[in-house]
Amino acid sequence: MTVTIVGSQLGDEGKGALVDLWGGDADIVVRYQGGDNAGHTVVEDGEEYKLSLVPSGAVRDKVGVLGNGCVINPRTLFSEIDDLRERGLDPDVRLAKRAHVIMPYHRRLDNIEEEAKADSDLTVGTTGRGIGPTYEDKAGRRGIRVGDLLDPDVLRQRLEYVVPQKKALIEDVYGLEAGEECDVEALVEEYTEIGRRLREDDMAVNCGDFLAERREAGDNVMFEGAQGTLIDIDHGSYPYVTSSNPTAGGAATGTGVGPTVVGQGEVVGIVKSYLSRVGEGPMPTELKDDEREEELADFIREKGGEFGTVTGRPRRIGWLDMPMLRHAARVSGFTGIAVNHLDVLAGLDEVKVGHAYELEGEERLTMPATTERWGECEPVVKEFDTWPEVDWAAVAEEGYDAIPDAAQDYLEYLSDELDVPIYAVGVGPGREQTVHIENPFDN
Ligand code: GDP
Ligand code: IMO
Ligand code: MG
Repeated sequence: MTVTIVGSQLGDEGKGALVDLWGGDADIVVRYQGGDNAGHTVVEDGEEYKLSLVPSGAVRDKVGVLGNGCVINPRTLFSEIDDLRERGLDPDVRLAKRAHVIMPYHRRLDNIEEEAKADSDLTVGTTGRGIGPTYEDKAGRRGIRVGDLLDPDVLRQRLEYVVPQKKALIEDVYGLEAGEECDVEALVEEYTEIGRRLREDDMAVNCGDFLAERREAGDNVMFEGAQGTLIDIDHGSYPYVTSSNPTAGGAATGTGVGPTVVGQGEVVGIVKSYLSRVGEGPMPTELKDDEREEELADFIREKGGEFGTVTGRPRRIGWLDMPMLRHAARVSGFTGIAVNHLDVLAGLDEVKVGHAYELEGEERLTMPATTERWGECEPVVKEFDTWPEVDWAAVAEEGYDAIPDAAQDYLEYLSDELDVPIYAVGVGPGREQTVHIENPFDN
């Protein structure tokens, strides 16, 4: 049995919380794309864990795998593992030998390119973690893979080829000075040592084989998506995207299990009850048109704690965008959804959603394929009755029927429009602050 967790919007939908919730029934939690640009929050008994690379199942002592589709910064990984150990956990993390390694020059180049783009207003607002440059090298067949760290001769050969290119880029194209990120000897030394630790701790695996063996032994596997559909490199708002495929297809290519395996399991879209975006790019339902909307956005931002987990940047806020969600549900083939942050909308004077778009005088229910057209879309707004602030802990305990009627109407609208059932409703950040409806591992 597999369950794939996918962000339906622009990231930060609360994926970590749901991986944690249902991860209790998983044996292995596998990340299939992205790297330490992700920030997933798990709250267990009031204790908060913010995880960038270690799969969220670590909080429940599950085996965590970083699949071949991931880009891994070993410095972040080991510091995260060490932090978790200090907090009393013992994370068992395996890395696909086919996964690519984020090197110090990738991070430098990510920041250099963002600055260079600022002059022509093309900034993406990346997390600065070197994600894009690492995937570029992967596609350019000049990347360093986890497996290469285990073989110092191969590592040296690859670095001796690629580092002079990076140095030339930094110095000759951007007119900056290259630093220790381009010191081949220092890199060989540091990354050989990292390879030694990986070997010693038996962390590097052939991901596809590893998962096949575990599945044959009867293990349940959860695929933990990072980021979200609208920042998918293929299906998102290009170029304001990340450089991987958070959508469900990525779970197959990013781990080495067949698409039929992913497809026979559950694919659950995680939906935030409103929208947040960190970084640049259009957002038709953004709350920013006048002072009143800005105040409302500030209120939701504060109440929902909408500040980037990785970079601390304030997140942009908007109403739910249904064309975006229809797109997400189709691209990933959702079998169900989880709706989070229902509590954050409680007690507002108004609750709206962008039901459709108006573009060039026509109403449409789906998103245009180019970001420029998307930016021209005006939301066709549908207004809902508001719901009051209630004791959400009690609601979580009593179940779905205890959710205020107007909020139930909102949820049923979502489920009907997307033609999928709702498996869970988040009414607070904690594991127990969730209204359970169906556990996808039971299906
Ligand atoms: P992820 O990247 O999708 O895992 O989401 P993040 O962890 O970056 O952001 C989600 C934030 O919302 C975290 O601070 C969570 O603890 C919190 N959260 C998750 N679900 C809920 C919910 O239902 N209600 C509230 N108020 N907060 C939630
Ligand atoms: P989780 O997994 C929200 C955004 C960045 C930027 C764009 C490209 O926590 O949902 P990158 O560093 O990936 O090259 O940046 O993508 N971004 C995220 N936004 N949540 C995330 O992850 C994100 N990871 C990247 O802000 O706009
Ligand atoms: Mg996040």
